[in-house]
Amino acid sequence: MKKKFVWGVATSAYQVEGAVREDGRTPSIWDTFCAQPGKIDHGDTGEIACDHYHHYKEDIRLMSELGIDSYRFSISWPRIFPEKGRYNPDGMRFYQNVIAELKKYGITAAVTLYHWDLPQWAEDLGGWLNRECVDWFEEFARKCFEKLDADVSMWITHNEPWCASFLSYYIGAHAPGKHGLEQAMIAAHHMMLSHGRAVRVYRAMGGKHPIGITLNSTPVYAATDTFPDQLARSMQEGYQNRWFLDPLFRKSYPTDMAALFAAQCGTRFAFLQPGDLECIAEPIDFIGLNFYSHCYVNYDPASPILIGHPETDYPKTDIGWDIHPEALERLVRDTREYTSIPIYITENGSAWDDRVENGCVHDQERVDYLRRHLEEVDHLNQMGLGIQGYFSWSFLDNFEWANGYSKRFGLVYVDYKTLKRIPKDSFYAYRDWIQAFRKR
Ligand code: FCB
Repeated sequence: MKKKFVWGVATSAYQVEGAVREDGRTPSIWDTFCAQPGKIDHGDTGEIACDHYHHYKEDIRLMSELGIDSYRFSISWPRIFPEKGRYNPDGMRFYQNVIAELKKYGITAAVTLYHWDLPQWAEDLGGWLNRECVDWFEEFARKCFEKLDADVSMWITHNEPWCASFLSYYIGAHAPGKHGLEQAMIAAHHMMLSHGRAVRVYRAMGGKHPIGITLNSTPVYAATDTFPDQLARSMQEGYQNRWFLDPLFRKSYPTDMAALFAAQCGTRFAFLQPGDLECIAEPIDFIGLNFYSHCYVNYDPASPILIGHPETDYPKTDIGWDIHPEALERLVRDTREYTSIPIYITENGSAWDDRVENGCVHDQERVDYLRRHLEEVDHLNQMGLGIQGYFSWSFLDNFEWANGYSKRFGLVYVDYKTLKRIPKDSFYAYRDWIQAFRKR
């Protein structure tokens, strides 16, 4: 029988939940990062966010009106382990309640374990730079599997480890805001190792649902076909894509990038221990891809990784990302060089400067973006590329990391003063698309 295509929406814990001090939760690195002046636009924080923690019933009711099959959300680690080694059943109860509520409407739960909110206690002990963090993550993962697996349809160990490592430990734009290349390599390695360890734990526990990981590998285009620009393309692919895909599917790190990184930071790869690469490459059941845009590069000898980002004349969303739905084909084909397991688009969406007019949000640009991307997914599947599901980012407008509340990605508008939810035109467009698809 042909497997059913999964239609969904996605959020993540810190971006929507709020309730940061409730039921025993302790701070995560994002609470700490937000408290540092200048890190987040307008000094915004996730303290209240969409208050999904208290509005989940209303939100799930809206999801049922949307007619989705699945809700992708993440679990806040410091709710589950507010201190090292101390499990907090009160924190887990929230996710049990969410899943029970979803079940009432026949919506499945696609659960991400790590969407960037490391407990601050773990950070205080070295965080992802400390190899022990892999054990702490394993303990957290095991608890989630134990308590939730019966009603979870798919598990995603990590969301976008490139962002959680290079963007957070090298570029420093995300928590914990560090600026070291070797630190980023170490953090990335430990995250990938913790992924492999979680998959092993899940298999050993007899877990029956699909488990995988979500990457933000990106389709890369070079400004020209000159050798230097093509080199920059290869570097960008190495930096953001191959650095994660090679260990997952080929038990190695890309040697060109390893050589470049080593020349830049003098690493001796001491973090890489015997058996690690086998563990990271533990077979998985699917790969998640988050797709928003392409990456357009040229050669920049002044950049430590030789990559420049020239201006393009593509139309852009409100966050400045180029709109290029056809680039999804390159991303999927590049991924297919590595694996034939099912692909899920675990995020796709666009930010626009939405306005409420007479109680409605006419977000025609988002409707267009959505439609073009849905058509592209359809087109790729007609070519047999094996995309098994699509999750729109995001269900709700939410806390967009360093951009705070200034960028709105939701199908549902959130009035942050009153917390009122208003489905946008794109909400209805997505609902109609799903219904039409099911009738085919
Ligand atoms: C992705 C993140 C997600 C959201 C979107 C816009 O990189 O996974 O949390 O912020 O970008």
